[in-house]
Amino acid sequence: MHKDFEEDAVDAAARVLETNWTGRYTVPATGLYPHQWSWDSAFVAIGTRHRTPGRARAELVTLLDAQWPDGRVPQIVYDVGRDDDYAPGAEFWRSATSGLVQPPVHAWAAWLVHCSDPAGSAREGFLARLYPRLARWHEYLHGPRAGAVGLPVTKHPWETGTDNSPLWDAALERVPPEARTAIRRPDLRHAGTGERPGSRDYRRYYRLAEAYRDAGCADDVPIGFAMVCPLFASVLAVSELALARMAGALADAGGGAPWGVNGSAGTGADAGAHETAAERVITAMDAHLWNDDLGLYVALDDTTGERVRRATVNGLVPLLLARSLAQGRTARLLATLAGPGFLGGGPFLPSTSREDPTFDPALYWRGPAWFNMSWLLLRAARALGRDDLAARLGEHFTVAAPEGFPEYADPDTGAGRGTRRFSWTAALTLDALLSNESEVLPVP
Ligand code: SER
Repeated sequence: MHKDFEEDAVDAAARVLETNWTGRYTVPATGLYPHQWSWDSAFVAIGTRHRTPGRARAELVTLLDAQWPDGRVPQIVYDVGRDDDYAPGAEFWRSATSGLVQPPVHAWAAWLVHCSDPAGSAREGFLARLYPRLARWHEYLHGPRAGAVGLPVTKHPWETGTDNSPLWDAALERVPPEARTAIRRPDLRHAGTGERPGSRDYRRYYRLAEAYRDAGCADDVPIGFAMVCPLFASVLAVSELALARMAGALADAGGGAPWGVNGSAGTGADAGAHETAAERVITAMDAHLWNDDLGLYVALDDTTGERVRRATVNGLVPLLLARSLAQGRTARLLATLAGPGFLGGGPFLPSTSREDPTFDPALYWRGPAWFNMSWLLLRAARALGRDDLAARLGEHFTVAAPEGFPEYADPDTGAGRGTRRFSWTAALTLDALLSNESEVLPVP
């Protein structure tokens, strides 16, 4: 990539992040998403660590400050004064946070943030502060959220982070498209209707959210949607390995573990326990989510026990764990990634395979190229030494600045779609341009 272009793109990305920073966290976009979002903040911290590591740490600390007593990290922490600007808001949840969650990228992000400025991290006691909270977050996912095969279930499409992916179509069909809440769509002021989920989807999203809220967000009450996702499971495994690194670093720094869990001193941090948890997730994923015809991992419906036969980018994310996957799977995943459904069929990585009948290059998670997905696979390709694929995936970030840091892009033309000046697009562009890490989990 040309040096001048890189410098301009880095400066432009930093300006987006500066504008979207509120003083305590970064909004994903000032119009469409005016609150703090869970996995957005993790991706934002991964980018801001290069320029303002203190702010990257604050981003994650603010989010973890909103953790629920049961360990869950909420999908959205509301700026309650802005309830008119996004729906559903705090009024709907009767709480300052959403009761749902999002993919657990946080411990991985915290480790990357730590590695980029170990001295600043140590000065602030960043790992000691975050580690017990992140461990509790994972305990929640392994405990109340564990489904029949032991992998965590998502209780709502919003929890998957990939709202209208075709992976959820069959399960959503069983949800009546009727909600009691009057549905407002402020989102449509900021993105075209053909780029956002439709009103029938929204009636179902609200129906499920109402059911979960009315059950007190308890996880032992079935609400009609319980899906196991290969993206969610993969980032949980990477994050468990990050917790293992953190536990090791804390033990080296202090000897013993004075921080405890739930405030009780001396509970200790056990790197081995996190490694075992990661192995359990990977083994279950290999046993229950692989689809040999499609050559990638798929979702599993925890209610029916059925595997969802749909090829989406979610099913390629296990490449991050390539060295631990069952024999032959890495080669198959790489072939699928390079094949006609994904990078072989056009310049940018689509969210849904170009060969899937639901593929739509403009519609949110049903085809557009998302920058966080290119980043996840870029990271995996670099770790595998696949410079050819890394270069292809890196191309996505060259369209980010010229297109105004869009939420997502057309996978054939690179034209921006959705909202603009989107924080994780800017943050991950920074990381793609500035990070030379070749490991999924680097060492400081
Ligand atoms: N992705 C959801 C939305 O579009 C929120 O998490 O509103």
